[in-house]
Amino acid sequence: MARIAVIGTGYVGLTTGACFAHLGHDVVCADIDADKVAMLQRGEIPIVEKDLDRYVKEGISSGKLSFVLGAVEASKDCEFHYLCVPTPQGEDGSADLSYLESAAAEIAECLPAGSVVVNKSTVPVGSTGIVSRVLNRSDVAVVSNPEFLREGTAMDDFLNPDRVVIGCNDQQAAMRVASLYAKVRAPIMVTDPISAETIKYASNAFLASKLSFVNAIANLCEAVGADVNDVVLGMGYDRRIGKEFLHPGPGWGGSCFPKDTIALAKIASDHGYEFTFLNEVLKVNDEQFDRTAQKVLDVLGHDPAGRRVACWGLTFKAGTDDLRQSPAIEVLKRIGEAGVQIKAYDPAVGSPIDGLDVEVVGDPLEAVAGAEVLVILTEWEEFKRVDMDKVAELMSGRNIVDGRNLLDRDQIVRRGFLYRGIGR
Ligand code: UDX
Repeated sequence: MARIAVIGTGYVGLTTGACFAHLGHDVVCADIDADKVAMLQRGEIPIVEKDLDRYVKEGISSGKLSFVLGAVEASKDCEFHYLCVPTPQGEDGSADLSYLESAAAEIAECLPAGSVVVNKSTVPVGSTGIVSRVLNRSDVAVVSNPEFLREGTAMDDFLNPDRVVIGCNDQQAAMRVASLYAKVRAPIMVTDPISAETIKYASNAFLASKLSFVNAIANLCEAVGADVNDVVLGMGYDRRIGKEFLHPGPGWGGSCFPKDTIALAKIASDHGYEFTFLNEVLKVNDEQFDRTAQKVLDVLGHDPAGRRVACWGLTFKAGTDDLRQSPAIEVLKRIGEAGVQIKAYDPAVGSPIDGLDVEVVGDPLEAVAGAEVLVILTEWEEFKRVDMDKVAELMSGRNIVDGRNLLDRDQIVRRGFLYRGIGR
């Protein structure tokens, strides 16, 4: 079993650390935030992620997982060093590498000879080379090992992945990283670092493209009178297309898809290839926010200012408390700009959202009281269990815009609601 340092305890770092400890390795996770480290040492988790708290507690009590302040404290005695720091979107759309570079600079001198530094963060093509240059250590190998973790199922995605991708020109270092995954049953693919980095971006951009395509098909269904739910069901039976990632919605978002799609278009352009296809994928997504907001405004008619709308769902998808690049927020901003008053409920959000003029309430029925329209923007299962007779009683109008095609349309219509979904 190996000794692994994980630098950065965000989503990716915490999941990586907790899962490697679960696989039996000795893991030391480092962060620069003293309060966060103290919290994690007590076994308290700052994010909502299924099973993460269980695995962290298990790691702490078995002695396999610990948390320290500062990267040097973690790296000085380890053989593997996973860089799991944020790579936010810079002003020109490209990924900002300052966290990555400063983490590499910080550990450069303390790394034991023969150790392996691994890039887990989503980093632009060529970053493995940048880390090597910053480290300036000929006795240390640098490897790309991108993550493919979805929020809400991150632990399962780590322990039961579709594949593990390892990018390194040094075969021996690649094999050492592969050995960390010995207990994981998945194909392990070894390639060069630039290809590994490209696999990560291409995968996210492909999935985002698939969603923009499905949303465009939903719009087409509305125009021709087809039902998108049946259309995607029929498409998904074709194994070349696959059943997953075919669910239309109010647009896609989250901490990865928007930033990675923009970054890939920028990487391509910087290397002399105009990836115009990706610009269209992004444009279709923006239009989907507009179209979903317009569905609500259409119900309100020509004078929406001061009218009341209820919203269920604020997070970028169900199963997380993450609001980053949430389609719900994009849609609500557009509705709010028309002067509409919005009350919203989300099971994972308890406080007002910066920059969004929406009253956040603690109960789905409180949100709908007095509202003319209810719009559903995140696919939380609990919304299906709300008593719709009560909802009908409390609302001042009977209009539902179901941005996730979540509710049973026939049952809703039977209760006298006017139902508008996406693509049906
Ligand atoms: C994504 C990738 O899936 C993951 O592999 C990568 O490592 C990080 O980015 P995540 O951001 O957690 O993961 O979210 P994901 O489950 O992929 O959903 C992204 C967005 O697409 C959400 O807004 C979601 O609601 C939307 N979506 C997803 C749909 O609208 N329809 C679908 O069928 C699937």
